Amino acid sequence: MNILILGSGGREHAIAWKLSQSTKVKKIFIGPGNAGTSSCGTNIKIDPEKFDEVKDAVLSNKIDIVIVGPESPLVKGIHDYFLNDKKLAKIPVIGPVKNAAMLEGSKDFAKDFMTRYNIPTAAYRTFDKPTYSEALHFLKKINPPYVLKADGLAAGKGVVILNNFGEASKELAAMLDGKFGEASRKVVIEEFLKGIELSVFVITDGHSYKLLPEAKDYKRIGVGDTGLNTGGMGAVSPVPFADGNFMTKVEEKIIKPTIRGLSEDHIPYKGFIFFGLINVDGEPYVIEYNVRLGDPETEAMLPRISSDFFELIEGVAECDLHKRELTIDKRSVTTVMMVSGGYPGNYEKDKVISGLDSVSEAVVFHAGTRLVDDKVVTNGGRVLSVSAWGRTMNEALRESYRNAGLISYDGSYFRSDIGFDLQG
Ligand code: AMP
Ligand code: GLY
Repeated sequence: MNILILGSGGREHAIAWKLSQSTKVKKIFIGPGNAGTSSCGTNIKIDPEKFDEVKDAVLSNKIDIVIVGPESPLVKGIHDYFLNDKKLAKIPVIGPVKNAAMLEGSKDFAKDFMTRYNIPTAAYRTFDKPTYSEALHFLKKINPPYVLKADGLAAGKGVVILNNFGEASKELAAMLDGKFGEASRKVVIEEFLKGIELSVFVITDGHSYKLLPEAKDYKRIGVGDTGLNTGGMGAVSPVPFADGNFMTKVEEKIIKPTIRGLSEDHIPYKGFIFFGLINVDGEPYVIEYNVRLGDPETEAMLPRISSDFFELIEGVAECDLHKRELTIDKRSVTTVMMVSGGYPGNYEKDKVISGLDSVSEAVVFHAGTRLVDDKVVTNGGRVLSVSAWGRTMNEALRESYRNAGLISYDGSYFRSDIGFDLQG
């Protein structure tokens, strides 16, 4: 089997690394990939959002299965593009078609779906510019903090949480006026939920699903969950509070109704579903759906799968996922993200990275790197994710941090407190 993985981050490196361990996989291509993915396969210079470039790469490299890493090509309809092209129609794409990708592409769509299928989520209403005065009425009725969400994709920046009614109504007006472009022409206002978040993943062929290891990520730049939001500064798996009792609730109240709802709505779904959940006094609620794997959660989650991950991918492609084996390593995995100085604000690129050869008892997934004359240099805000195993979360963290300490580049920074809220 020849596989093409679309994307260029740590998530895609982790997928390539895991699939490279499968005896069933012959060649792995990553488009466009990074310096790290080139050690698991062949990088191809393509833009995953330019479907004609993807098509050429698929045909010229005799690709059998395409795995889509990020959400954007899915929301733009890459799977539909394959289905509508005579030469590509039989090549399975792991990732949902456009109308299913709406679960991530439109918050209003996702909230409506959850309401119809009785899936626990915060109470909400959706407004546009003509209904601004109704929106103010609604804001007055609910208690602060006020949660305002741009309906469409806004590069992770479309959720604004404000404590003060005046600020919230101003922000709402700005959003409806296009603060996030087309994405905020509609705004979801929802009730604030207080609890601790976690990420739960399934892979589905549209009929059955397999539950993958859960993870918790750390989104803020500063220790103690302070400062600006980032793409993710680290992750741990398993999540101690996600015990059997809690995960049974997640499956019964959230995962199964979601799979059933998609099927009842005649929305064929093949790929990963990422449930962004919050634990409110022992009860799981959905904060958001994503139609892909998380980053950096994948860098902590995939190293916990001890069976052949390709079996699951092939199970989706051949629609027999229920027959496929999945075994999960009981050990903990933690991942610590090393970023560029200044991130998530302005930062410099092209800093030479040293120490990668000294890493032991850990695996380093590249997030933003590239090769320049055999040297690995920084090429993004998030640079490297250092994943390690341990009998406990703290043992794994010790190894992640020991190894992160061996890697250096000008301006490197990582959070020193991943897992801080899960101690004891
Ligand atoms: P989202 O893009 O929907 O995941 O939202 C981004 C972040 O905003 C989430 O990870 C939460 O930390 C926070 N958030 C979103 N919705 C709510 C809510 N209803 N109550 C509390 N926090 C929320
Ligand atoms: N780590 C959160 C995400 O991938 O969206």
